[in-house]
Amino acid sequence: MTTPTIELKPSASPLSAAERDAILVAPGFGRHFTDHMVTIRWTEGRGWHDGQLVPYGPLSLDPANMTLHYAQEIFEGLKAYRQPDGSVATFRPEKNATRFQASARRLGMPELPVETFIEACDVLVRQDAAWVPAHGGEESLYLRPFMIATEVGLGVKPANEYLFLVIASPAGAYFPGGVRPVSIWLSEDRVRAVPGGVGDAKTGGNYAASLLAQAEAAAKGCEQVCYLDAVEHRWVEELGGMNLYFVYGDRIVTPGLTGSILEGVTRDSLLTVARDLGYTAEEGRVSVEQWQRDAENGSLTEVFACGTAAVITPVGTVKRESAEWRQSGGEPGEVTLKLRSALLDVQRGITPDRHGWMHRL
Ligand code: COI
Repeated sequence: MTTPTIELKPSASPLSAAERDAILVAPGFGRHFTDHMVTIRWTEGRGWHDGQLVPYGPLSLDPANMTLHYAQEIFEGLKAYRQPDGSVATFRPEKNATRFQASARRLGMPELPVETFIEACDVLVRQDAAWVPAHGGEESLYLRPFMIATEVGLGVKPANEYLFLVIASPAGAYFPGGVRPVSIWLSEDRVRAVPGGVGDAKTGGNYAASLLAQAEAAAKGCEQVCYLDAVEHRWVEELGGMNLYFVYGDRIVTPGLTGSILEGVTRDSLLTVARDLGYTAEEGRVSVEQWQRDAENGSLTEVFACGTAAVITPVGTVKRESAEWRQSGGEPGEVTLKLRSALLDVQRGITPDRHGWMHRL
């Protein structure tokens, strides 16, 4: 694998410092973008080349660009946090880099070297460091590395040219309203991913496939949809863009990786953080019947969703066609909040980084 250098071609920000600071006070999620982006090309026979940091701006694509037709695309999400001393650190970027390689293999795309992925993120964060929100709050800078096919043509085959990019967006809470329980619609007929498919790859198609059920969830008055397995329509898998955890007193359980579930970095980190805090943390199988029964008999004390964008979000009301119930009386649960603070404190540099997760720039 070739490891290209990234040439810096920055330009002055189109925004004044005051305009940028006004955005950073309440950035929302995915609405504003920093001044630059990184691009690296891949061509068959040549490998990775032409790494550049350039001003953020539109791409010019041929209408017959293969991504627009056959969706050969993958992406990642990771965050950079302002540390107490004013420096900046990203959280476990090597996990995202290796998952990006796994997604690339599944989609028939070239693998970007781990060190190039991390360097591309570092170069962008260093250049646009003024966009990393202040230490102390929950805000961070969300990085979105992604790769698209750039070959032009309508034949269905893996492309012979690709473009890797990293863009960055200051991020507040993914769900408006702070740490507030979200409502879940259990989709018992539509599925997100099938065995042998691309459910464990981070590819846009999985998110496209989730949108109709997400709209149906909204029509039922719910904010998120939860998918069950595609074979028995019984085993809980994940939400449209987040993993799930079930809390049984001091034992937490997340659905095991079946091949149709995305291996979330937050999901993985929480298995460790929970054990550090003295909880039993396990991967397992939870059926929809068990979820309803254990919630109703009180043994299932809390449920929460987790992901890079959403951090840890409590689940409140759960609805399925035949029933509706509330978790933790509709309030954020104690274990959920404890895990949330423990993880955020590591990310914000408030507690020691026992597992070497923070990558300092
Ligand atoms: C993330 O949590 O980073 C995600 O990818 C979820 C979503 C915003 C697509």
